[in-house]
Amino acid sequence: MFSFVHKCLLLFSPEIAHSLGVFFLKIYQKLLVVFSKHNCRPAFSLKKGHSESLVFPNRLGLAAGFDKNAELFVGLSRFGFGFIEVGTVTPEAQEGNPKPRLWRVEPEGLINQMGFNNCGLKSFQNHLRRLRPFCSVPVLANIGKNKTTPNERAIEDYQILFKGLVNDVDGFVVNVSSPNTQGLRELQSVEFIEHIESAAPRKPVFVKLAPDLDSEQLIQLCRKVNESPRLSGIVLTNTSRAIAQRDYEKDQGGYSGEKLFERSLECVAVARENLKDGKCIIGVGGVNSPERAKKMLSQGADLIEVYTGFVYQGPKFIKNISQELSNQSFELSF
Ligand SMILES: Cc1cc2nc3c(=O)[nH]c(=O)nc-3n(C[C@H](O)[C@H](O)[C@H](O)COP(=O)(O)O)c2cc1C
Repeated sequence: MFSFVHKCLLLFSPEIAHSLGVFFLKIYQKLLVVFSKHNCRPAFSLKKGHSESLVFPNRLGLAAGFDKNAELFVGLSRFGFGFIEVGTVTPEAQEGNPKPRLWRVEPEGLINQMGFNNCGLKSFQNHLRRLRPFCSVPVLANIGKNKTTPNERAIEDYQILFKGLVNDVDGFVVNVSSPNTQGLRELQSVEFIEHIESAAPRKPVFVKLAPDLDSEQLIQLCRKVNESPRLSGIVLTNTSRAIAQRDYEKDQGGYSGEKLFERSLECVAVARENLKDGKCIIGVGGVNSPERAKKMLSQGADLIEVYTGFVYQGPKFIKNISQELSNQSFELSF
């Protein structure tokens, strides 16, 4: 049934297809919740002496931006994901950029300039509180600053989100790499990582970086993460402005999918060489087959995520990858 619905969705323009997908997922999820007699949430977070650890039942997650408002993750988790990233959420609700802002491009790629359209912290929190007891995998919140917040005050937005969500999620991803919020990528700096380290709660916290950084910048940021005991690791990568410009002559937006894989893989390899043991890498970008998933893991990613591959290939693709990865679990100490 899911394959049929997925094929039909691809007949529509990308943002309408997404809205229809959200509609069907909400119905599916409602049925799951109504027929769950009790909470099915196992304990992921384990106390181990003075430290804690978070257990991921398998290494394949859903990347940020699909469930922007944290209202679909219970349904999505049943497709076989080992964890789900929800968001990006900002303190206040915002509409994002004017439409059209999402395009399909050949081969198996997307260009988006959504601009953090989301329901804001309050509603996001309500959704999580209602649904999280029914979710059987860890949920990470991807957090960002509002468009109207200047960079000098950006840390305040991240502090509000850490504080507001700390009891509702299993970890955080700090998004400083979307190409669609003006100036956001300037926060990919050693100084801003210091601010994040000071604000981070006692939960796994990752920093998400762009594929358009050069290797020297990436190495510097890895060194800073090494010096930051509260940071668990890095998510590599967000969408690429460089590929959107070079191959599709788009001056705005970020490219995801097929062609991103090579650069994301390179970033993961550089990060693995420069991050110390115990720091975790979530590899994302152009993973659209079990072979690519395995390659990302062999280059040093501990966990992987997909977005565009899932959009093009549907739920079956998730089952295939997680089966190929033998549903191997992963334990993250923090
Ligand atoms: C339509 C769309 C919306 C996205 N929104 C977000 C977002 O809100 N926050 C974020 O960190 N990444 C966002 N991303 C980036 C993805 O999480 C992911 O990093 C990127 O698409 C590369 O993975 P992929 O090639 O598997 O799609 C978005 C991607 C797409 C295509």
